[in-house]
Amino acid sequence: MTPQDFDTLVRARRSVRGYRPDPVASEVIDAALATALWAPSNCNIQPWHVHIVSGDALRVLGAAMTEAAHSGQPHPDIPMDTAYRGVFRDRQIGSAKALYGAMGIARDDRAGRSAAFLRNLDAFGAPHAAFVFLPEGFGTREAADLGGFVQTFLLALTAQGLGSVAQGALSLYPDIVRAHLGLGAGEQLIVGIAFGHEDPSHPANAARTGRAALTDIVTRHG
Ligand SMILES: Cc1cc2nc3c(=O)[nH]c(=O)nc-3n(C[C@H](O)[C@H](O)[C@H](O)COP(=O)(O)O)c2cc1C
Repeated sequence: MTPQDFDTLVRARRSVRGYRPDPVASEVIDAALATALWAPSNCNIQPWHVHIVSGDALRVLGAAMTEAAHSGQPHPDIPMDTAYRGVFRDRQIGSAKALYGAMGIARDDRAGRSAAFLRNLDAFGAPHAAFVFLPEGFGTREAADLGGFVQTFLLALTAQGLGSVAQGALSLYPDIVRAHLGLGAGEQLIVGIAFGHEDPSHPANAARTGRAALTDIVTRHG
């Protein structure tokens, strides 16, 4: 593999928010997971616990989370109370504009935006979702390890020609997820990942994001 091949793979990955219902072969999912296992982690502790939820089980879980969203406030294990400001707010708005623009949802269309958000809780109709947990006692340092695992998994799925999207939204109702998966409170839900075959005709999949310039994020010393 050349550096250009790797760059092409990384740039080929993008968030997919509309899927065909047909399942991915379990050997293909296992191969992507087996690749992701090679992500680095602090002291090689590999603190990721991954649950793959598929088919009807995912639809049932999605329906339970959607119902919860209609009836109360989310209680994620990791609070999502950071207000993005300055350049971070600008980037957040940029990604929202790309998505809602692609979907034809106007800025003042609150009902449309709400419906678009709720699609998150059904994993955008994907046939599979990975729920990534961090065992109790671990904190921010080890949560960063999960970031490496998640990106490696997303790239492995991309290399298989599959679509995927990381979803903080799938971690908004961790008690419901734990109840459905038979897990105790010791498993902290950090993020979910919807994946499967992309539905290229879904308008959400026309959204494209950009990136900051190198000079905006890198400072050289010496
Ligand atoms: C940890 C994490 C959580 C995310 N949560 C969501 C989410 O809940 N819903 C969603 O539609 N996209 C979510 N995304 C996708 C980002 O919006 C997306 O990666 C970003 O806008 C860049 O676009 P790209 O993935 O197409 O390159 C998340 C991404 C990451 C890494």
